Amino acid sequence: MNTTAVSFPNIAFIKYWGNRNNALRLPAADSLSMTLDRPSVEITLSDADRLSIRSFEADGKEKILTEKQISRWKETLDLMRSSLGTIGAEGTLPETLSLEIRSHIPPSVGLASSAAVFSCLARAVQGFISDKTRLTEEQTSVLARLGSGSAARSIFDGYAALLAGSGNDIDAAVGKQIADESHWTLYDFVIIPSTHEKKVGSTEGHALAHTSPLFDQRVKDITERRQPQCIDAVLRKDFELLQQVVEEDALDMHAVMESSTPPLKYLSEETHRILREITSLREERHLPVLYTMDAGPTVHLIFEESALGEMKQFTDIQKQKRCLIFEAKVGKGAYLK
Ligand code: DP6
Repeated sequence: MNTTAVSFPNIAFIKYWGNRNNALRLPAADSLSMTLDRPSVEITLSDADRLSIRSFEADGKEKILTEKQISRWKETLDLMRSSLGTIGAEGTLPETLSLEIRSHIPPSVGLASSAAVFSCLARAVQGFISDKTRLTEEQTSVLARLGSGSAARSIFDGYAALLAGSGNDIDAAVGKQIADESHWTLYDFVIIPSTHEKKVGSTEGHALAHTSPLFDQRVKDITERRQPQCIDAVLRKDFELLQQVVEEDALDMHAVMESSTPPLKYLSEETHRILREITSLREERHLPVLYTMDAGPTVHLIFEESALGEMKQFTDIQKQKRCLIFEAKVGKGAYLK
C-alpha cells in the first residue's frame, strides 16, 4: 500500500497566534487564509516493518532531519492516532510506516512550510486509510491541525477558516472552506528581505502570546469583528474592506508579539521600508493591494489582477534592493496524487 499527497502553504488574512491548549494546538481564536498555488510539498506513505521518516530537497538530495524535527513527526503521528481513535478508526494508521517528504519550498523564501507539510501528511493519511475509514474534510483538517495549526486551512481549496470552537476535545477546532479558488483571483507576491532563520519559531511563539497585555483584546476583536468582516470581504470580493481588516490584524498580531515576555520582534527595518513604499505607491496609483506579514520580516503583497503589471514593476525594484521575490496566487488545497 502506497499513497502520495501534494499540498501547499497558505497566507493568513486573519492570523492564528496563541492557543488555549498548546499540546493539542487548539487556537485561542479563529483565523482565515488563502491557500497558495505554489510551492508544493509531496508526501508518500507506505507500509513498512519499522517507522522510517526521510526528507528530500527539490533536487532529490536527502535532507538530514534534526532530533527535534523527528520528534515533531512522531508526536504528530501519535496525535493523529488518538484523533482517529475518538472517531472509531483506531488501528487504521499503523505504528510502522515509511514516510517520504519531498519539499519544493526553497529554504530561503521565508514561507512557513509547516502548513504545507502537515496538511500534506493529513491528506496522505486520509488516503492511506480510506479503504478502512472515510474521513470527512473536517476530520482531515483536524489531523492537519495536530501537526501545525495553520495546516488545517491548507486542506481546502481557495479561502479557508480555522474555527477555534470551544473546550479541550482533540477535534474541537476544525477547518472550513469559505470559498473555492475560482471565486476570486488574488495574487500573493512575497518579498523576502532577509534570508536569516527566524529566531523563535511559531510553536514557541504561540506559547508566549498569553503574556502580552494586548492578547485578550486581540482574541475579542477577532471573534466579534475581524473574522466576520474578513469572511464578508472575501464572499463579497470587497477589496477595500479586505485591505483594512487584513492589515489591521497583521499589525495587531505584531503588536502582541512585540509586547510578549520576552518580546518577539520579527519585523525588520527592511520590512518597514517595503511597507512605506507600497503604501505610498498604492495611494498614488489607487491600487488594490494590501500587505501582511507572518512570524518573520517577509512581506506578502496580496492584490487583484488589475494590479499585476504595477506589482511586477514594484517587485523588480525590490530585487535591486537585494530582496528575494516569490510569486504565487490563490490555489488548490491538499490533494491525493
Ligand atoms: C504567524 O501554524 O506555523 O503564520 O501550529 O506551531 O505549527 P504551529 O504554528 P503555525 O502558526 C502560524 C502563525 C502565523 C499566522 C498564521 O498562519 O495564521
